[in-house]
Amino acid sequence: MADNVQINIDGKIIECPVIVGTEGERAIDISKLRTQSGLITMDPGFGNTGACQSAITYLDGDKGFLRYRGIPVEQLAENSTFVETSYLLIYGRLPNAQELEAFSDAFNEHSMIHEDMVNFFHAYPSTTHPMAILSAMVCAMSAYYPEFIKEEPTKQEINRIAVQLLSKVRTICAFSYKKSIGEPFVYPRHDLHYVHNFLNMMFSSPTNPYQIDDDVVNALQMLLILHADHEQNCSTSTVRLVGSSHANLYASISAGICALWGPLHGGANQAVIEMLEMIHKDGGDFNKYIAKAKDKSNTFRLMGFGHRVYKNFDPRARVIKKCADNLFNKLGINDPLLDLAKRIEEAVLKDEYFIERKLYPNVDFYSGIIFRAIGIPLNMFPVMFAIGRLPGWIAHWKEMIDDPTSKIGRPYQIYTGSLKKDYVPIEQR
Ligand code: SDX
Repeated sequence: MADNVQINIDGKIIECPVIVGTEGERAIDISKLRTQSGLITMDPGFGNTGACQSAITYLDGDKGFLRYRGIPVEQLAENSTFVETSYLLIYGRLPNAQELEAFSDAFNEHSMIHEDMVNFFHAYPSTTHPMAILSAMVCAMSAYYPEFIKEEPTKQEINRIAVQLLSKVRTICAFSYKKSIGEPFVYPRHDLHYVHNFLNMMFSSPTNPYQIDDDVVNALQMLLILHADHEQNCSTSTVRLVGSSHANLYASISAGICALWGPLHGGANQAVIEMLEMIHKDGGDFNKYIAKAKDKSNTFRLMGFGHRVYKNFDPRARVIKKCADNLFNKLGINDPLLDLAKRIEEAVLKDEYFIERKLYPNVDFYSGIIFRAIGIPLNMFPVMFAIGRLPGWIAHWKEMIDDPTSKIGRPYQIYTGSLKKDYVPIEQR
């Protein structure tokens, strides 16, 4: 295969090298195109454009592969924990027993938020969307840990901020839930592991300690692992772009949280349940809504279907659907929305419109049904996605900062506005 391509621009031949990845992916390096030809490329939504080279996650949209540092997510979902997977993503390899214990212990050291930050929660209306609170609180951490907001933090300082964020974000999310239901905050405990601690902070109260169910812990552990990274998705690209200006990690993660909030991205899990509830309330006639999703005269989309990269099944959706079945059987839950979701999936997979456009269920189609079964409120579903995606964001920010060739992200544009004209004084307008 050629190791370069030639672009003929008005008779001038521009030679561009071809970059080849570990899995044989190929890219045309056009980094010299503008200086050699004066032309730029145009690719709205970046559907054909690579922003970086990365060693963190590999996904093959046609084959439905997803691997973190080379390990298939199905194996991590089955055998690993969210803390261990976070270490793998951030540091590039699985930890040994001593490293994992030290990493896990550091989560305890950083699980509390500065007590002054508790006051922030009381300033928000109880109806505030928890993603608004989360992004603000993460950015506010830079006020309480100013020693870390420097242009070139040391590796040790980055490691400390990483563990701090992974541990404190869990506490912030649980506190925002307690604030929304008017219950007192439940503080983290050192004797509980990551997921167990989160569930305890969410659902325990002074009068009613939360009874942990291992099936629930395992289901949430699996969901967080499956959400942990997904290469250059919208929110991760946001974290990289903000970080490329050498903004600190708190600010970069806060921006990523805001990007994830959108219903086309991490907000889709909330939108899926809202859609299923709407169809269920409307008598369950899902064919009417499938027809609406195909009708170009309206903007309705079947939430939880389609993906920019996966043109085959999203491997995460398969694992999550199986987990939902197992959990519901074990807990004896009969949720009409799960049955409705399965009937919609069955109908869509036979429908030419979706087959032609390779629209399959994505990670968000079944995840909300499990969050709902655990008792997590609807508006916290994107927050659960953010807790899961945090190690991925941190790993990508760190990979970019560690890359001596990385530059500030600054795309060009093609101008389509007015030609030059003079200012007109107001009395002449
Ligand atoms: C996530 O990038 C990531 O990796 C994201 C993510 C991650 O882990 O970070 O995987 C998480 O965000 C999953 C996606 C969650 N979003 C949703 O479920 C929202 C519903 N899905 C769509 O809005 C859409 O499929 C996107 C946003 C996910 C992908 O959009 P694209 O790649 O820009 O595709 P497109 O909008 O250009 O659609 C191509 C065609 C269009 O029809 P035509 O113009 O060709 O006739 O497919 C149609 C679209 O109208 N289409 C849909 C559809 N999704 C695409 N039609 C009906 N229902 C849908 N859900």
